Amino acid sequence: MRRFFIAGNWKMNKTGAEAVELAKALKDKVDGIDKVDIAICPPFTALVSTSEIIKNSNVQLGAQNVYWEDQGAFTGEISVPMLINAGCQYVIIGHSERRQFFGETNQTVGKKLQKVLDSTLNPIFCVGETLNERQSGITEKIVQQQITEALNGIPKENVSRITIAYEPVWAIGTGVTATPEQAQDVHAFIRNLLTDLYDSKAASEIRIQYGGSMNAANAEELLKKPDIDGGLIGGAALKADSFAEIIKTANSL
Ligand code: PGA
Repeated sequence: MRRFFIAGNWKMNKTGAEAVELAKALKDKVDGIDKVDIAICPPFTALVSTSEIIKNSNVQLGAQNVYWEDQGAFTGEISVPMLINAGCQYVIIGHSERRQFFGETNQTVGKKLQKVLDSTLNPIFCVGETLNERQSGITEKIVQQQITEALNGIPKENVSRITIAYEPVWAIGTGVTATPEQAQDVHAFIRNLLTDLYDSKAASEIRIQYGGSMNAANAEELLKKPDIDGGLIGGAALKADSFAEIIKTANSL
């Protein structure tokens, strides 16, 4: 009932010309795939050019961050209307790299979620524990806190537009993937939490992506788990071949 959703987080990679080339190659490779929602999230500087390439295709566009004001004296920030105007349907919010290096907190993540949900953009909301937190046995406590604090005040009518990306920080960019069982356990925990915070209908509608070294080789066993509804892919999304393989795997399940 939930459609798979595979999104590529390009992070701070690809110049304008490189981004256009990758978007073109990907579009051709996934042409005709209709059982999976597909998105690419290039850097801000490549949003407009890639949106032209993927127009009228099955590939959608997302950004990697957004600010909660519409306009004004906020040097270096980008607003929701700007992203919509650039052709975005999605935006990643609260990625662990933003939390780690740029001071994002559950509160700023919550403000961004509220703002985005008041628009036509759809958020991809990232949560996940560090290695230290996992080893201390507090994974569920951390994820619960990230979700309850950021979703505070978000009404049930809006919540199913959120995609949650569970991304254990120790698995991001490290080549170490959570086992399918480890990932499924946290995904099921998140869905139960959403049932408590909202209701079982809302919880069953929300897509929960896994992120952290997902690639063409491990995607199938992860995506076969009942509560894993897709992936947020970093490294493996930087090549059209490997990203398209993951999408084709999802399409075949
Ligand atoms: P990775 O990144 O696939 O390179 O681990 C995932 C992410 O950070 O979204």
